[in-house]
Amino acid sequence: ALRGSFALKAQKANQRPQYGLQPLATYKVAILGADGGIGQPLALLIKMSPLVSALNLYDIENVKGVAADLSHCNTPSQVLDFTGASELGNCLKGVNVVVIPAGVPRKPGMTRDDLFNINANIVKTLVEAVADNCPDAFIHIISNPVNSTVPIAAEVLKQKGVYDPKKLFGVTTLDVVRANTFVAQKKNLKIIDVDVPVVGGHAGITILPLLSKTKPSVSFTDEEVEQLTVRIQNAGTEVVEAKAGAGSATLSMAYAAARFVESSLRALDGDGDVYECSFVQSDLTDLPFFASRIKLGRKGIEALVRSDLAGLSEYEEKALEALKPELKASIEKGIAFVQNQP
Ligand code: NAI
Repeated sequence: ALRGSFALKAQKANQRPQYGLQPLATYKVAILGADGGIGQPLALLIKMSPLVSALNLYDIENVKGVAADLSHCNTPSQVLDFTGASELGNCLKGVNVVVIPAGVPRKPGMTRDDLFNINANIVKTLVEAVADNCPDAFIHIISNPVNSTVPIAAEVLKQKGVYDPKKLFGVTTLDVVRANTFVAQKKNLKIIDVDVPVVGGHAGITILPLLSKTKPSVSFTDEEVEQLTVRIQNAGTEVVEAKAGAGSATLSMAYAAARFVESSLRALDGDGDVYECSFVQSDLTDLPFFASRIKLGRKGIEALVRSDLAGLSEYEEKALEALKPELKASIEKGIAFVQNQP
């Protein structure tokens, strides 16, 4: 009888729409760098999405094993593997959302900017292929330093004549995920209710959680604000140090990236109520790129949420001014990298 009830449960689970044989929608997603620490768990999470019909995995390393493994999950999407530069074009044809976690991660003692030289070239090459093969896709950049790799991607797309600022996103969702978790813990709130917008950029002091805008509304002492802000800014380093040379955040990053992909797919599918934070081309400040909450729609960014930057606390105003020079320099470094190529 016990076995019977398990079998029944399994059968019921199979009947839930997300596990049916037909996808609820037919979007194609590609992951570039799919064999990596982020790429693999991200592929698994996207394989579980009912909105995906095709999941294309690309890496310079062999991704056949990851694809074969995932393809046995009884969810609707078809998983295909693409290895090496000669297969990149085919991986990208007809894709709606491209996620890029390709590159090297930090080791203890490194800043995200220390990754610039290697990852800048990787992102440039991959975005060139995106421009050639699926110029209309949403592009999610995870590879660090995001503050520079997003401007690099924009310049490459401009050179190719296909830049749509509404469809290029630096993935900063992990900062929001961390802020929500730490605030819920500190204030003893129900975690699914908590939402903290995080603005600025994605490195050190450029990460600015707007604790005064936390939902549900909650008050913090000055000490709590300082503690939480610093912890959110250094949370990546917390993981880098704990992993002691074996890389940076991968599982929480995959979780966060999967959330951003799912939000993008819902927006593409016509859901009119999709908001996320992301590092995007922006006129909210005098910097050309800036992370803030955005409203997502079928054509990408429908609006930047301007109200988040109004009525900041004194602490946040100061932190916002303090982050601008560093963020500006990182953006300019990315732009110069592409413009100064022979
Ligand atoms: P990893 O080293 O485990 O995986 C990277 C993968 O990229 C490897 O499979 C590698 O073969 C592949 N790769 C390298 N060059 C490539 C190329 N030209 N084309 C395609 N694939 C290529 O690194 P991990 O931990 O997955 O991190 C990836 C990136 O994500 C790093 O730059 C890291 O700093 C960044 N990151 C970003 C976060 C964010 O919040 N935006 C958070 C955590 C990490």
